Amino acid sequence: MILEGTFKDKFLLLTFIILFSYSATALSAEGGPCKDYGECDEFKYSLNDFESLQRGASTYINYCYGCHSLKYSRWGRVASDLKIPEDIFFENLVFDKSIKSGDLMIGAMPSEESANWFGVTPPDLTLVSRYKGDDWIYSYLRAYYEDSSKQYGVNNLVYPGTAMPNVLLELQGNQRLVCKNIPVVAPNGGEKRDTNGNTIMQEKCGFLEVENGTGKLTKEEFDSLIYDLTNFLVYVGEPIKATRERIGWYVVFYFLIFTALSLLLYREFHKDYNKN
Ligand code: HEC
Repeated sequence: MILEGTFKDKFLLLTFIILFSYSATALSAEGGPCKDYGECDEFKYSLNDFESLQRGASTYINYCYGCHSLKYSRWGRVASDLKIPEDIFFENLVFDKSIKSGDLMIGAMPSEESANWFGVTPPDLTLVSRYKGDDWIYSYLRAYYEDSSKQYGVNNLVYPGTAMPNVLLELQGNQRLVCKNIPVVAPNGGEKRDTNGNTIMQEKCGFLEVENGTGKLTKEEFDSLIYDLTNFLVYVGEPIKATRERIGWYVVFYFLIFTALSLLLYREFHKDYNKN
């Protein structure tokens, strides 16, 4: 009886700990990493899509590398991992002709001067996907909006007050925060209606909307450009990731085969016991 009691106590304690840690994580998620944006948009990387990674690398070098180094990666490694022939890579993406294949991508901007220009030095982005998360980056780069009170005339929902100008503005167009009339949601999850059966509308603000015809890309094209760019940053953060995940499957496969073989061996040994 006593033993049973302690077991029950332990079980209750364990349940309590699990539930408590769950609610603690749920609480800490409130307020959220994506700040005024709400939940970050979900991002699913595809590291075997080399075309996406190549487009991402090209966008990065053209639009971001001027401020953000990737100082833990080397030019030649990026070219070979992304399956870009080195001559084509160097001809089209490496603007400084003195750079060699084995050089680190240390950036083009002197950090003291940039701290003066922006108030902060633009951080190195090699590991940004590891410490900020891909969801965060994907949301951040799409959440700039017009805000004349700020230094560059823009602000960001995911990173309010960011010191980084909206460098992709000409591609995306002029995004603004707008208000919209949307149906009020009833407690049962449906639309709330008045006594005549008309849907009750309510004005809500804080929606992002691009001013028509101000950007070079459509919304879908811009989202896919940011997808490729984020995908590239996930690759740069851990170049071995795709290989690691592939090997993981081999290991699981090996364990399955190994378990089956051990089971057969076990049965073989057991035959001897049954004889006696
Ligand atoms: C004109 C210089 C400049 C360019 C070009 C630029 N950035 Fe930035 N970026 C900054 C600065 C400055 C910060 C720091 C912002 C802050 O902390 O307030 C920053 C911050 C970031 C951060 C957040 C990093 C962190 O640790 O908080 C990300 C992600 C980022 N930039 C991505 C990009 C990408 C992707 C591009 C290319 C599309 C790009 N940036 C182009 C200046 C630049």
